[in-house]
Amino acid sequence: MLSKKIGIDLGTSTVLVYVKGEGIVVNEPALMATDERGARVLAVGRAASELLGRGGKARAVRPVRDGDGVDYDAAGAMVRHLIGRIVGRQRIFRPDVMLSVPPMVTGVERRAVLEATMDAGAKSAYLIDKPMAAAIGARVSVATTEGILVVNLGAGSTDVAAIALGEMLALESISIGGAALDRAIEEAVAATHGVRLQPGEAERLKVAVGSATVPAAESWLELAAVRPDGESLRLRLSGKEVQGAIQKPLLGIASGLQRVMAQVSEDRRTSLMRNGAILTGGGAQLRGIAEFFTTHAGIPARVARDPQSCVAVGTGMALDNLQVIRRGQHYIT
Ligand SMILES: Nc1ncnc2c1ncn2[C@@H]1O[C@H](COP(=O)(O)OP(=O)(O)O)[C@@H](O)[C@H]1O
Ligand SMILES: [Mg+2]
Repeated sequence: MLSKKIGIDLGTSTVLVYVKGEGIVVNEPALMATDERGARVLAVGRAASELLGRGGKARAVRPVRDGDGVDYDAAGAMVRHLIGRIVGRQRIFRPDVMLSVPPMVTGVERRAVLEATMDAGAKSAYLIDKPMAAAIGARVSVATTEGILVVNLGAGSTDVAAIALGEMLALESISIGGAALDRAIEEAVAATHGVRLQPGEAERLKVAVGSATVPAAESWLELAAVRPDGESLRLRLSGKEVQGAIQKPLLGIASGLQRVMAQVSEDRRTSLMRNGAILTGGGAQLRGIAEFFTTHAGIPARVARDPQSCVAVGTGMALDNLQVIRRGQHYIT
């Protein structure tokens, strides 16, 4: 194989790259460090977070921000760097690149992403909607008439799509993602303990002891917090407290699942209920999340294998299955 086939999932928090025949080769923060003026890229991904962590004058740039805004120059620079890492600097054999995009991105923005990808050194560039990529990466059939409900739980948002016959029949992008759960934890801690958690501690707590349903066994984690007078302290928080704090945003997502179900015909709804919902994205790793949606959205839910990689894997796999991408979503020279 002369030209590599590359799938890129550029998310708000993580960038994953899948190369056909090799698997996931990049799984790093979706972050770049530039010089002060933002003119020169100093580091990308893990190297960027290390550089920024050392302080100094470097500036942090996230190509995709919470709320789905895309900085095209930054996204292009990031894709260029990633292509360079994978095929080397020579670029004798330019790769075919598929990028996944949030479904709400407009046509003009899609053009801009395609052009940025071509500028970044691709031989051909394609776009796929994230929910479609998520379903393919989760190895569920997207072409059947029965269909499937796909829920991709990202950091900034959760996309819910009913997919059948290779198309998205109904769709909603909910602005509640993993970051909203972290904020809910911070607010609950401020309200009950009168202290502010240090940045990153709420997420660490959620990952370590968080659960959507009542935890089977109690677990605790010690965290760094700050009192209103500025004094630092350590605080022990329980999984039960986290579970209570995140109920409201999780119920917000469950309502989104129900709204998408309400958009499809009754026949389709019946078959979707039979097939259930498949959960992907980093947020699908939350304990009890499938049980939570089964109960509160009323549709049987299950978590995909390796949920955080599904979009990237499906994005790469779609290069061998081009009929799943929307009309006009490609750029071939
Ligand atoms: N074990 C876990 N439990 C709960 N949430 C998790 C876990 N691991 C990662 N997450 C959350 O998943 C989100 C990142 O998911 P990801 O699909 O990579 O996001 P994006 O596509 O928006 O970059 C973050 O909010 C993170 O806190
Ligand atoms: Mg993701």
